[in-house]
Amino acid sequence: MKTHMILDLDTGVDDSIALVYAALNPMIDLLGVTGTFGNVQTPVGVQNALNILSLVGREDVPVFTGALSSISSDVFNRHEVSALIHGENGVGQVTLPVSKRSAESESAVDFLIRMMKKYTDNLVIVTTGPLTNMAKVLMKEPSLKQWKGRVVSMGGALTVRGNVSHFAEANISQDPKAAKMVFESDIDTTIVPLDVTMRSRLTEKHAEVWKASGEAGTYLAKMLQYYIKNTLGTDETYVHDPSAVMYGIHPEYFTVLTSAITVEIEGVDEGRIVVDQTRLREANPTSKTCIQVQSEKVEAQLMELFN
Ligand code: BDR
Ligand code: CA
Repeated sequence: MKTHMILDLDTGVDDSIALVYAALNPMIDLLGVTGTFGNVQTPVGVQNALNILSLVGREDVPVFTGALSSISSDVFNRHEVSALIHGENGVGQVTLPVSKRSAESESAVDFLIRMMKKYTDNLVIVTTGPLTNMAKVLMKEPSLKQWKGRVVSMGGALTVRGNVSHFAEANISQDPKAAKMVFESDIDTTIVPLDVTMRSRLTEKHAEVWKASGEAGTYLAKMLQYYIKNTLGTDETYVHDPSAVMYGIHPEYFTVLTSAITVEIEGVDEGRIVVDQTRLREANPTSKTCIQVQSEKVEAQLMELFN
């Protein structure tokens, strides 16, 4: 049976690779994409998602516009480093063919609520940006704090340093209060932090293999090459967002720590994920954090992206 999945993306380069992985994977029933801010402003990310879906022949997957900024602010100022890593347009300065479709008129939050109620425990929501849309879902429908489905969230740094501050990772740092709300809910949540995403690598070899697969692969390879050049500056880069989608269908690739997690929301470690000291003795914590990964499996899956 296929896994029903929704992706909540701030569609930059690694979000796009995660999207292609989900859209082409026969194990996944991709119900929709919800857009958020982060790597780019929300409308840009939504357009990128539409373009990527059309590139891989998945114009049947609806795309919804979500939060424009964090739950604590009415404005979102894109970090300069995001433009550097993902390109001004979010897709590595590659000009993608423009999709003929537009985003749906229903909001991302309403779509998420509708699907969570419809599929109950038979749905995985994978987030690869700030957790604002999910927090808004819980604010609008507090009963969904007991939702029985699963959330898988790329973000945080538990045993390694952060990538925007010593402690904080980008997705969590862009809306720490939203992440705290989601992680402290009763929803079965798995965090896919830098601890595992930095252990796997996308390489020039992936780009080469994708290019040989045809048009879509060639566009994605060019995006990857831009991203590689502007992240590590070597011939490889980390596997952030695709790791979260992969956890959704291949949890056996990952080792998890099962313990209640919370998020620091002020001070020097604002945006840091930590084990919740007040819930150390909880019998059945609902949050898991990936701390180790069989990176060769992750890397092999991505090599076969277009097979
Ligand atoms: C995360 O931040 C964004 O730049 C990436 O898309 C990923 O979701 C990594 O910290
Ligand atoms: Ca992302």
